[in-house]
Amino acid sequence: MKRTKMYTTIAVATVAAMSLAACGGSGGSASGSEGETGAAADGAVDVSDAETLWKLAFNQTDQHPQYLAAEQLGEDLYEATDGRYAIEVYPNEELGTQSDVVQNLSDGSVEMMFIGAPVLESFNEDFIVFNLPYMFATEEAQAAVLGDEAVVGELYSSLEDSKNISVLAGVSGGVRSVYNSKHPIVEPEDLDGLKIRVQQSDSQVAMIEAMGAVASPMGQGEVYSALQTGALDGAENNETVFEALKHNEVSSYYSYTRHLMVPDYLLINSDILGGMSDEDREAFLELVPGAVESVNEGMKEYAQSSRTAAESAGAEFNDDVNVDAFRELVAPVVEGAINNDVREALFEAVQAANEANAG
Ligand code: GCU
Repeated sequence: MKRTKMYTTIAVATVAAMSLAACGGSGGSASGSEGETGAAADGAVDVSDAETLWKLAFNQTDQHPQYLAAEQLGEDLYEATDGRYAIEVYPNEELGTQSDVVQNLSDGSVEMMFIGAPVLESFNEDFIVFNLPYMFATEEAQAAVLGDEAVVGELYSSLEDSKNISVLAGVSGGVRSVYNSKHPIVEPEDLDGLKIRVQQSDSQVAMIEAMGAVASPMGQGEVYSALQTGALDGAENNETVFEALKHNEVSSYYSYTRHLMVPDYLLINSDILGGMSDEDREAFLELVPGAVESVNEGMKEYAQSSRTAAESAGAEFNDDVNVDAFRELVAPVVEGAINNDVREALFEAVQAANEANAG
């Protein structure tokens, strides 16, 4: 069977079009919010009687902008397809770590998920480019690249034949910095020898080791107890993971290295997408840009409120960091990774977006 390359292309193109239309908000329903079926008492749509209910795996809490956007997407899908399809979101790694769930998504036992971009490097190493340190100058530059079909179309459909996985969209995963239980990080030597958790990929290991730390790749769900027992000295992530997953309780020094802006991708099993009627699939893909918009807006606000909450719980945020020194240390990792034509083209596109969307 010919796979769904064209479907993701449509999704990405729609992202760009919808961004221009500044749809805003939380993925407004294609058919209005007053669905005839399934209205729950609290105003949310009860989608549990959908003919087909997709499972969407998520590794963080039900307060996270990605969770909220996915819930809304499920409700909007239910309405847009007259109850033929909906999405049930499983938060908190209930369905497993991202690297386990992506296998289930590939075989179709889980239909959708959000995944941290580095995990996809093991399927196609060209995904590495957007996961490299100090790659994007601003979140706007990142959003511009991730939503530009001409840039990302081939990458997003590159796993369809080999893994049966379609990338529907790339969204903000926040801006990442280092935190640890010992002391604020100002200079690279402050990081020397600290055992720091990173996402599960070679690029993340190479990056943190170049910054001077000892890398410990693991799934998100294991991090809290590893910090608590001292198996880890710290981790690197956005303010939201730091606070919402309570890492601040056991690792209270957050230092703004701002070394990464790694995307998350919204994935779907390609056969599931290809198996929809043209009409239902089109209705679904039209809803994706609203979800992207909602995540990207929500992430900025959530980072702020997470910082405030962590501070009042006693965490210390340090913005006096020698970022230039860290940037210099990781430069060889970036140069080494941009080593073929595909990656060079992606890298050039990022540079152009950085210029057009400077801070
Ligand atoms: C971010 C990202 C997740 C990722 C997590 C991690 O929160 O949004 O997709 O899994 O970081 O570091 O594991």
